[in-house]
Amino acid sequence: ANTGPLEILGAHHPTDSFTNVGPSILSKIPLRLHTQPGHPLSTLRSIIESHFPTYSHLSSFSPLVTPFKNFDELSFPKDHPGRSPTDSYYINKNLMLRTHTSAHEVDVFGRGEDKWLLTADVYRRDEIDASHYPVFHQMEGARLFSADKASMKELEEDNEYLERVLEKSNIIIEDIPHISPSNPVQETHDPVHAELVAKNLKLSLNSLILRLFGGAASNAEPLRVRWIEAYFPFTSPSFEVEVFFRGKWLEILGCGVVIQSTLDTASMFYSCSSFFLSTGFYTLYIDVKNKIGWAFGLGLERIAMILYSIPDIRLFWSTDERFLSQFKPGDITTTFKAYSKFPSCFKDVSFWNAVAAPLHENDFCDLVRDVAGDLVEDVKMIDSFVHPKTNRSSTCYRINYRSMDRSLSNEEVNELQKVVVARLIDEFRVEIR
Ligand code: PHE
Repeated sequence: ANTGPLEILGAHHPTDSFTNVGPSILSKIPLRLHTQPGHPLSTLRSIIESHFPTYSHLSSFSPLVTPFKNFDELSFPKDHPGRSPTDSYYINKNLMLRTHTSAHEVDVFGRGEDKWLLTADVYRRDEIDASHYPVFHQMEGARLFSADKASMKELEEDNEYLERVLEKSNIIIEDIPHISPSNPVQETHDPVHAELVAKNLKLSLNSLILRLFGGAASNAEPLRVRWIEAYFPFTSPSFEVEVFFRGKWLEILGCGVVIQSTLDTASMFYSCSSFFLSTGFYTLYIDVKNKIGWAFGLGLERIAMILYSIPDIRLFWSTDERFLSQFKPGDITTTFKAYSKFPSCFKDVSFWNAVAAPLHENDFCDLVRDVAGDLVEDVKMIDSFVHPKTNRSSTCYRINYRSMDRSLSNEEVNELQKVVVARLIDEFRVEIR
């Protein structure tokens, strides 16, 4: 189903058998909600930036990266499922839409930055529902320390200071050990240094979380935060953080002590560039290799939905004044008031899959999105079975069509559904039941 080259952000890119981006995804790339003044995602970005005033604040990196940057440079194994075109968006075999802001770690460390925040749009193929959208926004934060005695002493003092501040506040933290057999220190790290760095990571993030969620918790119940062991190919030890909000534990970020090979690669870039840039009078060497540090990646929509009580992730893309006018720059205390919901219109489609290649749920969802855009609220698989005699598999999906800003007519939805069915037959060779 590929056409010619794709124009993205002013440049043309060839397509091939990997290409799986459609018009609805491509149309989101120039929008950069995290930089639109007054947009709740942009407000949240500025508040987090103001919490880390001495860090570099970056937010203009292109979403087009090589799979090498997105995965290999971060030590993802060759067979990691995230690499599959069913999970990620490819422009072509050698170019993709970043799936996380970590894709820029090596570049930013390689520039010699050792305290930075980077905000960007990221892309993942996914199911469709109120909290999943194939484009969302992440903020990456990182800090490096020199692995020498003097710097570690400073770090220890910084930790003591942060600890005292947190002790005075109304926050309950369920912690886990910084290092454990199942969440190990890296071989190249001095365990004492790694402990201090992991502790600094936790204290820095606990204080950010207090800044973001503390307001809602201050008088009544204390804010509850819990740290959980996690796994990422590019950090060890690794953690996830959950916040207790309105009766539920919600995951808001992943983080850990940066894998040393990330810094080694960055350091290679750094010394190359300083070699080429050096005038012969001096050469700057920030030896990233002798550094140790932490990184985190947080989901801005997730946090904004909690803070502002925004019920549907599609609302972030709304240009409706009834949405946008509710938010003021600098303010995270707004509670979003839902304006009237327009009625849903459910349409089912059942089909026999082509024998050779059953249709992946993400392919179905993307097809629906391409046809109906933000008029689709969610897609659910409501039935799936294999015929005992013919061995063919059958699937039934229910599509919920609903606009956020007007009433859809039945004719209009029928038209959309017709296109979905026609494209299903055409592109995936299914047989409608
Ligand atoms: N990139 C990870 C994700 O998207 C989050 C993360 C960032 C984890 C930095 C560790 C360190 O899930």
